[in-house]
Amino acid sequence: MTEAVAVPVTTLPGGVEMPMIGFGTWQLRGRAGRAAVTSALAAGYRHIDTATMYGNESEVGHALADSGLDRGAVFLTTKLPSSRVERERATIAASLRALGTDYVDLWLVHWPPAGRKLCQVWREFLAVRDEGRVRAIGVSNYSLAQIDRLTEATGVTPAVNQIPWSPARHDPALLAGHRERGVALEGYSPLKGANLKDPVLTGIATAHDVTPAQVVLRWHLEHGITVIPKSSHPDRIAANIDVLRFTLTPDEVARIDGRPRR
Ligand SMILES: NC(=O)c1ccc[n+]([C@@H]2O[C@H](COP(=O)([O-])OP(=O)(O)OC[C@H]3O[C@@H](n4cnc5c(N)ncnc54)[C@H](OP(=O)(O)O)[C@@H]3O)[C@@H](O)[C@H]2O)c1
Repeated sequence: MTEAVAVPVTTLPGGVEMPMIGFGTWQLRGRAGRAAVTSALAAGYRHIDTATMYGNESEVGHALADSGLDRGAVFLTTKLPSSRVERERATIAASLRALGTDYVDLWLVHWPPAGRKLCQVWREFLAVRDEGRVRAIGVSNYSLAQIDRLTEATGVTPAVNQIPWSPARHDPALLAGHRERGVALEGYSPLKGANLKDPVLTGIATAHDVTPAQVVLRWHLEHGITVIPKSSHPDRIAANIDVLRFTLTPDEVARIDGRPRR
């Protein structure tokens, strides 16, 4: 097993350290899914992002077991789907069984449930966290207004909001809103949301002798955004975490902000 890559971390409430590059696993299923997670751990990722909805928690669990890594060495996220609201406890129990662990580092509400359930599910999350089955709790695909409703109802703000982020979606006010609330922004679909043939990206990539995908992922880090690229190819999996040996200048970051997807 390769050494961990020394990825910067974001410290969540309770002192939980979240590596700022994670491995996304949506659409990685079955044998290929297990192999991809094995490749990611071998490449030095120590943060894996899964979800009940992805149908691959047991593959992630097997890859973790195969790696021989200590459970504490890997930051593990899973998510509660909307279909399991009001069955939170049974769902986290099933996730933990499938993952072969007795806790996850981060449990997210995958999508905001409508109406009163928005706060109800959050109260359940607090209870499960207090029972020690999850170290930190957060949300995904929530607006700032929805986050504020949770804080007002319970006094506890989500540690993380996982939302789509990429140069084309760059929104300084939304980023600042998360910072003001102490919510770590975790960006998903970083590469799908970018045009990797964009001349600005290819020019900056050439200047640093890296690929446009690496420029996009580094750009997230420059903005303090955690990023979770997915790939099924070992070479891309390794390249996507190999973004710590170069930095972007403030001018390069500004030129990438808002680059269109097409
Ligand atoms: N919370 C949510 O609602 C939500 C929604 C979507 C995603 N997510 C999470 O975020 C993760 C990442 O998002 P995503 O999977 O939608 O998209 P992504 O990571 O932005 O992009 C994945 C796509 O980019 C390709 N790719 C990967 N590395 C590349 C590279 N170095 N150069 C060129 N192409 C590359 C992949 O192809 P290959 O596989 O062929 O390499 C795949 O087609 C997901 O896996 C999931 O964990 C969460």
